[in-house]
Amino acid sequence: MSETSTAATGQQLAASLPAAHRRVLTAALRAPSAHNAQPWRIRLGTGRRYELHYDHHDYLPADPEDRDAYLCMGAFCETLALAAAGEGLVADLDLVLRRTGTDLHVADVELRPGAVADPLAAAVAHRATNRSRYTDEPLPAELTGALRELRCVLVPTGQVARIVRRASVLSWRDRRFVGDLAAWIRADSDAPDGMSPRQLGLARYEWLALRAAFVLGRLPAPLARAYSGRDIRLLGEAPAVAVLCADSDSPADLVEAGRRLLRAWTTICAHRFGYHPISIAIDCPTTRPDVAALAGGHGTPVALFRIGRPTGSAGESNRHQLADVLRS
Ligand SMILES: Cc1cc2nc3c(=O)[nH]c(=O)nc-3n(C[C@H](O)[C@H](O)[C@H](O)COP(=O)(O)O)c2cc1C
Repeated sequence: MSETSTAATGQQLAASLPAAHRRVLTAALRAPSAHNAQPWRIRLGTGRRYELHYDHHDYLPADPEDRDAYLCMGAFCETLALAAAGEGLVADLDLVLRRTGTDLHVADVELRPGAVADPLAAAVAHRATNRSRYTDEPLPAELTGALRELRCVLVPTGQVARIVRRASVLSWRDRRFVGDLAAWIRADSDAPDGMSPRQLGLARYEWLALRAAFVLGRLPAPLARAYSGRDIRLLGEAPAVAVLCADSDSPADLVEAGRRLLRAWTTICAHRFGYHPISIAIDCPTTRPDVAALAGGHGTPVALFRIGRPTGSAGESNRHQLADVLRS
């Protein structure tokens, strides 16, 4: 991502920041992003202000409306705000959403001293996607209540599994979907971005199927069915599946939904439960209306994830350094 001179400049910029700001911005880099693509850039403004940008060059051709990008920029904003609260700072965020070429100036943030009593501030550092099997232990009422307040609708797992199966077969035959995966799957588990087979918890045969898809550009239907079998099995076993809804797919609504998504995922982890997004059913245009119907008039579905008590630990995911994403 960064050339040597950019990295050197980034390091100088990082060193010039107040230590607490450096900690907050570094913590914000732990935000989740689809394919762990981390499309955010931080430009230094004047004083205590920072500009948050999203670079289209880095992102996903199979996400032509940039839905995942806006969601993860929202998740980035919320992670930053919670990290700031943990440092005794207030993050004042102003949405900008101004596009110039491949750059989208998403928001401005000012970090100022102040106390925010946010129960999730201490929990945000422990949020991680957990792709292990879940037990059938039901979700506690306190957790389902908190998720409902964040506009998450719990939907019947069996019906979701059928939708995901259909979405999988269609998507694995789509060259853009396979191309995105090929671009972001990293054989090297130390790569600073993307996802490694280890992080994804792939069995050897699944990794082989994936590599075959990359060579072919798409998977034949029987292989696509075999590959999607894992997600469907995991979904079927989970005690709950949630759909997070937004008012619309407009960039402002998606950034706001991304903030709620981050809070939902952090809340789940704070309860020592796990979550695992299975976005394929929403990303696939043919099956998205089916998800909307399941969510039953609560709005536009923008994220779908299974929830449960995990049987294994979350896979580790890497991040770029702050110096790599800072711009003057
Ligand atoms: C909008 C969005 C969609 C995602 N979709 C999926 C998905 O379909 N399948 C999956 O396994 N992970 C998905 N993820 C999780 C990312 O892969 C994960 O956040 C990233 O690899 C970083 O890992 P972490 O969440 O453990 O920090 C998604 C994340 C976001 C923000």
